[in-house]
Amino acid sequence: MTGSADEREAALALLGWYIEMGADEAIGLEAADRLAPPEAIPPPPSIPVPRAEQSSRPVPVDPPLALTDSLADAAQSARRLAAGADRIEALAALVAEFDGCPLKRTATNTVFTDGSAMAPVMIIGEAPGADEDRTGRPFVGRAGQLLDRMLAAIGLDRSSVLITNVVYWRPPGNRTPTAAEIASCLPFAFRLIALVRPKILVLSGGAAAGALLPQGQGITRLRGRWFDLAVPGLEERVPTLPMFHPSFLLRTPVRKREAWRDLLSLRARLDELLAGDSGH
Ligand code: URA
Repeated sequence: MTGSADEREAALALLGWYIEMGADEAIGLEAADRLAPPEAIPPPPSIPVPRAEQSSRPVPVDPPLALTDSLADAAQSARRLAAGADRIEALAALVAEFDGCPLKRTATNTVFTDGSAMAPVMIIGEAPGADEDRTGRPFVGRAGQLLDRMLAAIGLDRSSVLITNVVYWRPPGNRTPTAAEIASCLPFAFRLIALVRPKILVLSGGAAAGALLPQGQGITRLRGRWFDLAVPGLEERVPTLPMFHPSFLLRTPVRKREAWRDLLSLRARLDELLAGDSGH
């Protein structure tokens, strides 16, 4: 074998190893200096489990205590910042500038919202994936395409919903965001709900349901049940429906039957609320 054939084979083996380790894309024009001292909060150690859209998966492990402290500070600073935003554009700018969530350090783009701020339905998912990280828009990959089909089945589209996630940066390797990472971003999600004032909130998957509902149950138990969510800044509670995440439905199509039931329930409740509005 020639030298260059050896080199090619070695390069291919290395590439294969990278892919096996979960590096599914090359991003950024400049190489990251992983050995440089961290500027702010180092990323928390994580267990590289796939997304926890279904209830049977354990909640990811939180970082050690010192890191949890700094993430708690981050959550407090997010609360303070979010409270000062009185328009969605201002909130979006604050999120883009926020450095308190360590996921930002490895992400390409901040992914905040898509859809209409006037929409009657707001959907909160888990975290951006590779396609969302690349484009800066939530739910544009395979899960997003299924979400679009699910919405279309009950006469909705991106102009009748506002879509966001519980974290705004892609977790490395698409792992589930930790509870502390979610907590550092959650004040922005609550503020967004208060500013949008949706008629209905849909929590897509276990991460969103676990973060916003106090029940402490998995999505299999929560899905399809209506909750009245108290949101700081809103006098009235928001009717809230947890549902299976589209990524989970892609992996487990047999659960689409339950998702369909939940979509019908969503449509019926929305019609009721809209009819109530026009009757006044
Ligand atoms: N999954 C999510 O939860 N959110 C996205 O934006 C994309 C995939």
